[in-house]
Amino acid sequence: MQTTEKKIDESKQGEALILDTNTAKNSKKLYLESYGCAMNFSDSEVVASILSKNGYSTTRNIEESDLILLNTCSIRDKAEQTVRKRLTTFKKMKKAKPSLMVGVLGCMAERLKTALLEEEKLVDLVVGPDAYRDLPNLLQITEGGQKSVNVLLSREETYADISPVRLDNTGVTAFVSITRGCDNMCSFCVVPFTRGRERSRNPLTIVAEARDLYERGYREVTLLGQNVDSYRWNMSSKGEIKDETIPTTNFAQLMEMVALVSPLMRVRFSTSHPKDMGNDVIETIAKHANICNYIHLPVQSGNSDLLKKMNRGYTREWYLNRIAAIHRILPNATISTDIITGFCGETEEQHQDTLSLIKEVKFSAAFMYKYSERPKTLAERKYEDDIPEEIKQRRLTEIIKVQHENQLAYFEKQIGREFEVLIEKVSKKSDEEYMGRNEHSSSIIFPKGNHKVGEYVNVKITSCTKASMRGELI
Ligand code: SAH
Ligand code: SF4
Ligand code: F3S
Repeated sequence: MQTTEKKIDESKQGEALILDTNTAKNSKKLYLESYGCAMNFSDSEVVASILSKNGYSTTRNIEESDLILLNTCSIRDKAEQTVRKRLTTFKKMKKAKPSLMVGVLGCMAERLKTALLEEEKLVDLVVGPDAYRDLPNLLQITEGGQKSVNVLLSREETYADISPVRLDNTGVTAFVSITRGCDNMCSFCVVPFTRGRERSRNPLTIVAEARDLYERGYREVTLLGQNVDSYRWNMSSKGEIKDETIPTTNFAQLMEMVALVSPLMRVRFSTSHPKDMGNDVIETIAKHANICNYIHLPVQSGNSDLLKKMNRGYTREWYLNRIAAIHRILPNATISTDIITGFCGETEEQHQDTLSLIKEVKFSAAFMYKYSERPKTLAERKYEDDIPEEIKQRRLTEIIKVQHENQLAYFEKQIGREFEVLIEKVSKKSDEEYMGRNEHSSSIIFPKGNHKVGEYVNVKITSCTKASMRGELI
C-alpha cells in the first residue's frame, strides 16, 4: 500500500476532504484529518460514520470544530513528526477554546498508547484502529472532563457492518477494506504492531458495499489490505475449511465477485505481496475487462540476502518470476513498486542489485523511501541501523533518478496510444480540463468537452511530463 507522510489531502491517494454530514440532530462539529496509507483514509470514513450516529457532522473548517481527530501513521519517523507538529498548532486553538477536544486515532495511537497523553499534554483521547466502535463512549468520558484511551487490538473486528461515510467529494472512486492487520512481520515494518493480526472481512458485506457504491454513481473501487493475496474467508491459513455450510473465498474469487457487480465498475486492489500473489489472481484480472491491468507489487530490495534479512519471504529470482508471470498472462499490464534504501547492513553491491532490478523491470511508478528504524520491530532488535544518513540519501537519489528516467520513457511510449479514461475531477491547474486515470492508474489531463465527472471517455495521449500525461478526446 502506498503511504505518505503528508496529509492524504496532498497526496495522490485521494483527498482527506470532509463530507458535510450535517443533519438537524447533528449539532456538534468534527474535523477529521488523515495521514498515512489508504487503509487509514478508509478507516476515517468508518469513524465519520460511527460519529454521524452520535451527534457529529463533519466540517472542513477547523475553526468551527468541537472535536479534532487526527488519524495517524507510524510507518516512518517522519510521519510521526508531521503529526506532532500538527498537534502543537492545535495547542494554541485549545487555549482560545478550552471546550475543544483533540483525539489521536490510528497507528501512532496504537504504538504510543497512554504515553501520548503524557507526551502531548493537549490530547484528550487516544483510540487505536480496532477500537472505533467505542468512540461514542470514550467521547462521553472526555466530555465529562477526563482523558480516555482504548487501544485494544482485536482478532475479529473488520467493521463489516458499518457503511462508511465517503469523505472524498468526487463520488467516483472509493476504497473498500477487505482485510485488516498483517501477519507478515517484515523485519523493518511497524504495521503488525499497530494494526494487529490479519483478519478477512465477510465477502458478502464487501460485495454489498461495492454494489451500493455502484448504485450511488461510483465507478471504481479499490480493494484494500496490507496483503490482499492472503485474503481468505472460512479457511484457516493452512487451507482447512472452518464451516462446511458456507462457501470458502480466496482473493481471486473475491475479486471476481466484485467485478461481477457491474462491467461499468472498475476494480483495483492494493497491496499485493510477491510471496503470495499466485497465478490465479493474475488470471482473474485477465478474465474480467473491468479489473484494471495494474499491479502494485512492492519489491523493497533487489538483493536476495537483504530480502531475507527483511523477512520478505521471497528472493530476487522469485520476484522476477512473478513479473514474468504477469507479462505472460497479462501482456498489457503495468507494474509499480515500493523500495527501501539503506536498510541495515546494505552494501554498495546490494544497492546496485536494487538499481539493476529497477532497470530490468521498468516499473511504471515507484514509491521510494530511506529506511527509518521503528521501535519494537525485528530489525530494531536484531540489526544495527548502520547506514549513514548521507549514504541512505545518495542511494535514494540514485534510485529516484533511474526510476524517473524509466517513467519518462514509459510515458513517452504512450504518446499516440488511446485509452479509456474514467473522469475523476476537474484538473487542479485549469477549470477547462479534467483529470482522469486509465486502467494503468496513470493520471491523464484532457479538455472537458461535453463530459461529466464519473463518465468514461476515450483519450489519445499527446504529450507527457515525468509525472503525468496529457491527451485529447477522441
Ligand atoms: N503492506 C505493504 C506495505 C505497507 S507500508 C507491503 O507489504 O508492501 C508501505 C511501504 O512503506 C512499504 O512497502 C515500504 O516500502 C515502506 N516502509 C515500511 N516500513 C518502512 C521503514 N521502516 N522505513 C522506510 N520505509 C518503510
Ligand atoms: Fe509491513 Fe510487510 Fe505487512 Fe507490508 S507485508 S504491512 S511491509 S509487515
Ligand atoms: Fe498505514 Fe501508516 Fe498505519 S502506512 S497501516 S497508517 S503505520
